[in-house]
Amino acid sequence: MPTFPFAILFLLGILIYAFRILRNAHARVDLLRSIPTVGPSGVLSSYIGAFKYIFNARDSLQEGYDKYRLNPGVFKIAVLDRWVVVVCRPDLIMDVKLAPENLLSFHDAAFDILEGRYTLGSSVFKDPYHFNIIQGPLTRNVSKRFPAMFREAVFALAKEIPLVHDESLEISVWNMTLNVACRTSTNFLLGHSLCRNSDWLALNIKFAKDVAVSINIINLFPDVLKPFVGKFMTPLPYSVARAVKHLSPLFAERMARMKDADSDAGEDDLISWLLSEACNGPPSRRTSQELTLRVLSVHFFAIYTTSMMLNHALIYLAYNLDMFNTLREEIEQCVQKHGGWTKAATEDMFCLESVLKEVMRLAPLNGVSVDRKTVNDYKFANGLCVPAGTMLSIPVYNVHRDETYNPRAETFEGTRFMGQKMTSATPQHLAWGLGRSACPGRFFAASELKMLLAHILVTYDFRCERETMPELRWFSQRILPDTTTTFIFQKRRI
Ligand code: HEM
Repeated sequence: MPTFPFAILFLLGILIYAFRILRNAHARVDLLRSIPTVGPSGVLSSYIGAFKYIFNARDSLQEGYDKYRLNPGVFKIAVLDRWVVVVCRPDLIMDVKLAPENLLSFHDAAFDILEGRYTLGSSVFKDPYHFNIIQGPLTRNVSKRFPAMFREAVFALAKEIPLVHDESLEISVWNMTLNVACRTSTNFLLGHSLCRNSDWLALNIKFAKDVAVSINIINLFPDVLKPFVGKFMTPLPYSVARAVKHLSPLFAERMARMKDADSDAGEDDLISWLLSEACNGPPSRRTSQELTLRVLSVHFFAIYTTSMMLNHALIYLAYNLDMFNTLREEIEQCVQKHGGWTKAATEDMFCLESVLKEVMRLAPLNGVSVDRKTVNDYKFANGLCVPAGTMLSIPVYNVHRDETYNPRAETFEGTRFMGQKMTSATPQHLAWGLGRSACPGRFFAASELKMLLAHILVTYDFRCERETMPELRWFSQRILPDTTTTFIFQKRRI
């Protein structure tokens, strides 16, 4: 990407935006005036805070959380193109959880924050029918499709960690987790043939990376410049064109089958679920382009998140080797009790579940999440009012590390959540979001994560040679994947 034109565009954007802000400043600040600010709140000086937020969001959020967590329970923070109202107090978090979509919109917020127009396409946010598919047939099929997914995971891991005898291998943890999660998720979503197709896998990994990078870059620009930057950054045209080649024959074949049999599209996979849902909706849902976009989007939501969590989990465990024996014993007992690697077996792995929940507490996907956009002026139950079009977010990272909710909050304690469901989304554990918009893929993700981590633990010994655990890296509110850590892997010595 040429950096010079982007730098000029960026500066130009700031200028245009500063003038716009000056024009609207009084109205905007007046409406949010009663909410305390972290950083400067002046018309132009708020940009100092916004720049600080890009590189130091963790400190800005902590400052706001420490000062205003209980009184008044909210604070505002400047990002480059808006104010974000950060909601901290439990009663106000409950208001956010319970407010319906027509008051606090999750899809509008996601569209803005994920730069939907340029990254996944507007239709994915304006007609989010994939959400019901993920919550419905996809989740219901986890148990049935689990054994095939497990076989693929074993194959994928053997490919990524190619140990033959007693040798040791140094492996990039991020590359390994990304490749394994992509292959395993593809097996579950689309079946055996595409999960062994190297072009399909490469394209989905590239799409996931390109979307993540585009979001972070486009987010930096003011609205007026987003169409220009979006045009350069969007991964959509080339990714969809490349994916259509793989998917259109499958769509055509399934549609023909549906017509012949006057029934559903056969096969329990994402293509059938999408086609069944698409046929009940407007014709715009049924074009090859649209269906392909939907498949790519579901892969994006599934792959990046799962690899991030697996990556974090392996790193936390490499620095808590004392947990290995307990975990391995539990995994082996469960597999034996259930006669093999099944979803039911992973459901009995309580210690493993607690470890993963603890990892998600310490390393959520974002520092703030559960984003909502106010559709009209919105009044919390305590009378606090925020204007229409305001972004509300919850400081997930800070809530998770609040000593009131989690004693010794900075310490990794693998057994902290023994007996608690990994998939529950509560106001104190927000890694899956909250309320009706909580991650629809979490039941599938939890099964896949447990299976992958369990298999790695019983198959390999691994260690990280860095003395101290790598710190979480942030960019703006996003917690980035650690792409640099390598592990030494060996076949497990029993
Ligand atoms: C460990 C893995 C995962 C984590 C940590 C995670 C986390 C999240 C979070 C925090 C949200 C936002 C919820 C809210 O704001 O209330 C979300 C939304 C979502 N997740 Fe997940 N997720 C994971 C895996 C998956 C998988 C495997 C799928 C699909 C099969 C999926 C599909 C979605 C979708 C479609 C949304 C709505 C996105 C939107 O419209 O913006 N997720 N997820």
